[in-house]
Amino acid sequence: MIVNFGSLNIDYVYSMEKIVRPGETLSSKERSVFPGGKGLNQSVALAHAGAEVRHAGFAGSEDAQFLVDIMEASGVGTGLLQRVAETNGHAVIQVDEHGENCIILYRGTNGMPDSAYVEKVGKTLHEGDLVLFQNETSAIAEMMRTAKEKRARIALNPSPMDNDCLNLPLELVDIFLLNEIEGAALTGEKEPDKILSGLLKRFPKAKIVLTLGSEGAMFADSYKSFFQPVVECEKVVDTTGAGDTFTGYYLAGIEAGMSDEEAIYRAATASSICITRMGAAPSIPLKEEVDTKAGIR
Ligand code: RIB
Repeated sequence: MIVNFGSLNIDYVYSMEKIVRPGETLSSKERSVFPGGKGLNQSVALAHAGAEVRHAGFAGSEDAQFLVDIMEASGVGTGLLQRVAETNGHAVIQVDEHGENCIILYRGTNGMPDSAYVEKVGKTLHEGDLVLFQNETSAIAEMMRTAKEKRARIALNPSPMDNDCLNLPLELVDIFLLNEIEGAALTGEKEPDKILSGLLKRFPKAKIVLTLGSEGAMFADSYKSFFQPVVECEKVVDTTGAGDTFTGYYLAGIEAGMSDEEAIYRAATASSICITRMGAAPSIPLKEEVDTKAGIR
């Protein structure tokens, strides 16, 4: 079983000719509202990829119902979700004509997980479960320690990176899924090879999956390392959620018994489909579509 201790956001997405710079005022071409949040997106990606996943987190008042709906429609278990009459977490996202984005987060309900909630989630964990974290909610360090006490494994996508994230009990993490910026913050290195070796020096027992955007991805653990080139797609429309799609598909793959090579190739293929569509969670493809593009039967 995978338990994802993560955020749920309402994404307000503004289509822009270009991303606004300091001091500038620009009109958007369109505004759309999508379900998102790194936690929700990764739960949806896990479920679309065929994994059994339960989402742990807080969802706010009525306007957040569509967040719960998309998780349930995707097959994500929502029994651990806590509903509260507070303002839901949200994101203000600008997407430019090349599909690049920038994001402002409002934490809202994602700041509500506390010790009592960690205890509640902890009681449902079993040895061998995989608990997935990003860095968009409160009580992460506590939940990590509780997960380890229950002999669960831990996967961390340290995104968005900040000082709190650097102070997490990172030595408990079994699988890191991160990009170059996050890797640089953890190691002080800039080159992908050096980021990987720096991370392995600090966390020798961990698996490291380093995503490199349009350059592809790299994998390393203490036994092997390899490079996965980017999987080509037609037009890039919106890169929001591509990393979340990758994370969900990779973890679902290894939990289903795939090799790291197979799981990363499938994750890269899923991301290559995600970026051809607007929005985060709604752009995450189903496994049939991914496997057809990847040539997997
Ligand atoms: O990774 C993409 C996500 O980041 C968006 O859905 C937004 O909510 C932010 O959390």
